[in-house]
Amino acid sequence: MKSTFFWDDPDKLEADLFAIPVFEGKVSDSKDVQRIDKQLDGLLSRVVEQEEFVGKAGETVLLHTHGRLPVGRVLLVGLGKRDEFDVSDTRRYGAAVVDCARRTHVKRVATALPPLDSSATERVSQFLVEGVLLAAYRYDRHLSPERRQPLRLEQLQLVLAADFRGNPAQLALSRAEIVGEAVCFARDLANDPPGELTPSKLAEVASALARDERLECKVLGPKECERQKMRLFLAVAQGSVEEPRFLHLTYHPRGKEKPAQRFVLVGKGVTFDSGGLSLKPTASMVGMKADMAGAAAVLAVMNALPKLGLRCEVHALVAATENMISGSAYKIGDIVTGLAGKSVEVVNTDAEGRLTLADALAYGVRLKPDEIIDIATLTGAVVVALGPHMAGVMGSDVSVVERFLAAGRRAGEEVWPLPLPRRLHEQIESPVADLKNAGERWGGASTAGLFLKAFVEDVPWIHFDIAGPAFAEKDWSFIPQGGTGFGVATLIEYLVSRDSLRS
Ligand code: BES
Ligand code: MN
Ligand code: ZN
Repeated sequence: MKSTFFWDDPDKLEADLFAIPVFEGKVSDSKDVQRIDKQLDGLLSRVVEQEEFVGKAGETVLLHTHGRLPVGRVLLVGLGKRDEFDVSDTRRYGAAVVDCARRTHVKRVATALPPLDSSATERVSQFLVEGVLLAAYRYDRHLSPERRQPLRLEQLQLVLAADFRGNPAQLALSRAEIVGEAVCFARDLANDPPGELTPSKLAEVASALARDERLECKVLGPKECERQKMRLFLAVAQGSVEEPRFLHLTYHPRGKEKPAQRFVLVGKGVTFDSGGLSLKPTASMVGMKADMAGAAAVLAVMNALPKLGLRCEVHALVAATENMISGSAYKIGDIVTGLAGKSVEVVNTDAEGRLTLADALAYGVRLKPDEIIDIATLTGAVVVALGPHMAGVMGSDVSVVERFLAAGRRAGEEVWPLPLPRRLHEQIESPVADLKNAGERWGGASTAGLFLKAFVEDVPWIHFDIAGPAFAEKDWSFIPQGGTGFGVATLIEYLVSRDSLRS
């Protein structure tokens, strides 16, 4: 699909479908509605009246123009109440347009923008194209052809006021395409079945990505991980017949200038989490193919960085493994010392993510970054706390967390701060080791965070627990059922904003 702008006389607009977004109760305020209504001798307002369309969020009305206009169909899309509307909700408008395009098989779609202040045009354009790309996504590679619903959408024209021309608008489109592509890349990985997307397959994906985008890429096998003393990671891996892989990708900005900042991104890469000997019941195991969604997000960001041309250096680390049950699986009561030299008593083999992350974080600290960010489907507790659509953010201090949350809000992802109360640390203290890998039931998201904190030393650190929103149970607007690519947009927004603040 190709996205372009249209600045010309609106009467010259040609398309199979013209979408017009309207705020609730303000349908007739829209200039586009007025113009088209006049051209159709009041037909549009009669349809609106008959269908009792008022512009509630998600409400739509579709009208054929029967050759009376150079646009074949007109689609009105409700945006809900103006004072409840956030620019990022423009993605939902984009999704409604795609929905209609899917049903009507149209190829050329034109879209008016939500009637907001012109200062918002750039971001509105970005979110609109993002919404269209995200809603157009389907994971259909395993469906028989007759079950695929191909989207014939080829051209998307964003209809703009004539005074908004040129560069900033173009930038918004390319940013949307970069983010959209990255999110869909992450979704594909999370949706791939665990028998296909094994740790070594994930490593192949990472090296192919590195080749295409000219990233530096190191892949460590079990022997090299052993040499690196990543024994916490290896303990999780030892129950599986699939070999673990440790992935280290680096983005170096172009040019001779020394990068102003160095970031490390760590993604949880458990390609299937059975729980190990602390076996999950079937219902909880469903969806555990996506326990590598953090890794997928981090790789997706690496995919985007060269296209964004950021000037900071970014490392992506993934300790990829399965968590399986077998005669060689790690056991409850095992005491394991990893890369950081801290011993850990395993009290629950289902708290495997933090063990893999501990070694990856310790590896990351050695790279001497300015900041380290981990993203992980880490705890069921965060889903209990915040529900299935919101991610929890913890970190080394309030200001670092707040800066990250602000990026999440700008990117339109639901993020919320969670504490790391010092007093809970006693829950992960062990009589026989430096730490144990799980605490009690209450405060589970925070004790997981506190466990990780022990491995980041004094590097400013963000812990992003995406266990809830990483996977969607059912279709919603621009998020189809399955892997969501959650976190990608926030991470990109965060890195871009940190990059432009360089000293
Ligand atoms: N991968 C799970 C967390 C998870 C739960 C992700 C639900 C997505 C949806 C993680 O490895 C896990 O099993 N965590 C345990 C930790 C507990 C044993 C301390 C949990 O949350 O139950
Ligand atoms: Mn687990
Ligand atoms: Zn897990």
